[in-house]
This record gives sequence, C-alpha cells and structure tokens, in this order.
Amino acid sequence: MMPFDSLQADSLVHHLPDHELEPGPEPGPEPGPDLGPTGTPAVEPAVRRSAVGRHLLYRGDCLTVMERLPPDSIDVVVTSPPYNLGLSYRSYADRRAEEDYLDWMVAVAAGIRRLMRADASFFLNITGSSSMPWLPFELIVRLRSLFRLQNHITWVKSISIGDQSVGHFKPITSRRYLHRNHEHVFHLTRDGAVPLQRLAVGVPFKDKSNIARRGHAQDLRCRGDSWFIPYDTVRRRAQKFDHPGTFPVMLPRMCMRLHGKPMPVVLDPFMGTGTTLLAAEQEGGRGVGIELDASYVAVARTRLQASMKAARAA
Ligand SMILES: C[S@@+](CC[C@H](N)C(=O)[O-])C[C@H]1O[C@@H](n2cnc3c(N)ncnc32)[C@H](O)[C@@H]1O
Repeated sequence: MMPFDSLQADSLVHHLPDHELEPGPEPGPEPGPDLGPTGTPAVEPAVRRSAVGRHLLYRGDCLTVMERLPPDSIDVVVTSPPYNLGLSYRSYADRRAEEDYLDWMVAVAAGIRRLMRADASFFLNITGSSSMPWLPFELIVRLRSLFRLQNHITWVKSISIGDQSVGHFKPITSRRYLHRNHEHVFHLTRDGAVPLQRLAVGVPFKDKSNIARRGHAQDLRCRGDSWFIPYDTVRRRAQKFDHPGTFPVMLPRMCMRLHGKPMPVVLDPFMGTGTTLLAAEQEGGRGVGIELDASYVAVARTRLQASMKAARAA
C-alpha cells in the first residue's frame, strides 16, 4: 500500500484541469438548481474543490469527479447513495425509473472500483422501503459483476429485546407492514479476501472464563454482522443539518475500524453533510467527499471545522 504521507491531497486532484477547479470556501446556501429528467441538475455544476485540514471536499457530480481521480488511491469507501425512495434533497430528484437508477448506480460502483486499491473495502449503505422492498437486492445482484460480497452487515437502528425497546420507532399506521428498523451495509471488495480487524469493533466476552479457557489474547470477541447504532435524538430538523438522509457518525467510524488500515484514505462519493469525512477525521484518516449540492458541502465544511476545533480544545 502506498504510504499515507506520500498520498498528498494534490495527488488526488492534479487530474482535474484548472479551469474546472474553483478552489476556496464554498458559498453559503443558494437556491437548488433546476433538475433534469434523470434527477440530477439539468446543467451539470462546475466542479469546485476545497480543503479542510487534510480532507478534500468536491462540489460536483460524483461520476465526473471520480473519473479524474487517480486509480488505486482509496483504502475505504463508505457511502449511502440516494435510495430512489423520493426523499427531498435540494439538488437531486430521488425518484428515477428503476432501470435508470440501477444503471446509474452500476456506473457509480464501477467508478468506485477503479479508485479502490487491491485491498480496499467498499461499505455500501442502502435500504428499500416497505412498499419498494426489492431495490437493494436488485442492486447488489447487479454489483456481482464488479465485486465480491465479503460481508453483509445489518445496521439495526432500533430494537426490542424482550419487553425493552431501544432507539427511535417512527409511528406506523400500516396494517400490512412491520416497523422498518434496519438498513443494509454491503461490504464489497475486489477479491473477497481482504483481511479485517474484527476485534477493532469487538465486544467484551460476557462470560470472562472463556478468555482463559479458549486462550484468547484479550477480552474481546467478534461483534458479528448486526450492528446496533441508534440515531441521536433530535428535536428539530436543523439538528439533522436540514438534510433528509444522514447516517450516524458511528457507522462510518466502525467501517473504518473494521477495515483496519491505519490512516486510511476514505472516499464518500455521496458526501451529503460530510458524516464520512467527520468519521475519517476522528479515526485519523484522510477524507475525500463529493456532493452535488453546494449547501450540503457548506454544512460538511462547518461540521469538519467544528470537530477539529473541539479536538484542539480537548
Ligand atoms: C443519502 S445522502 C448521503 C448522506 C450522508 N451519508 C450524510 O450523512 O450526510 C445522498 C447524497 O447524495 C447526493 N447526490 C445525489 N446525486 C449525486 C451525484 N451525482 N454526485 C454527488 N452527490 C450526489 C445528494 O445531494 C445527497 O446529499
């Protein structure tokens, strides 16, 4: 693997012709663009790049930006694409024809694969809805031509164990469907044989006598592939950064720890409010984020700056 220090921020951007780069701070909120028939803006926005600390943030279409990044340069990809469920993003219409959506996602995944080092991990977070349950499965079958499905993690957002419930349960009125409290995290790799650091996200043994009896070096066992990660309780939409589909920072942090490479270069081609970059900052990695909407990029910048300031003050 290329040493972390030798992968300078500029080596990730030198492929972008200068006229397409407008470095510098992102502007504040601006009206969302007119959307074309494929859900993306009718006129593709110019790519803008800015840096916060050791992280690079691109405003632009992920297919365009990824094409210009160097191959074999990324250790970990953690991303949550639009789910095609009609969420209200500012610059993207989240309701394409299903075939069009799947073709687009396969093209995005091929772009991601080109950037991944041979031993990289791609964690793809996606879900369907009760009325549109097939989409994540249709997608993962299509991705067989590009990747091995090394692990299938279930992200549990809320759960009831016996009579006790933890996490948020949205009110549900349906007589047909159960409350939906999980999402998928597909762990995709190039060859299906990437060694992981399972104990970096491990849990202590319940029965401590197992440690000596089974000769374990430490009081940790594998967590398994069901991860309970609830959202922080928020009272106002603004506390979720006025974005309809964020994930908790612990999710990408755990993915990075499981991958286990120190100081990884981490990509999120659907950066949103920058949660993956925040996780990369907190895990000692270097983040590369791409996002279509300038307002969300501005939120990501603010979140990263606040996290770095808090770390400095601590
Ligand atoms: C599910 S959200 C990601 C949220 C992110 N995980 C977070 O925690 O904030 C998907 C994001 O993809 C962005 N998006 C949609 N099409 C895009 C494209 N072609 N290139 C880059 N970003 C895009 C949307 O604007 C949206 O913010």
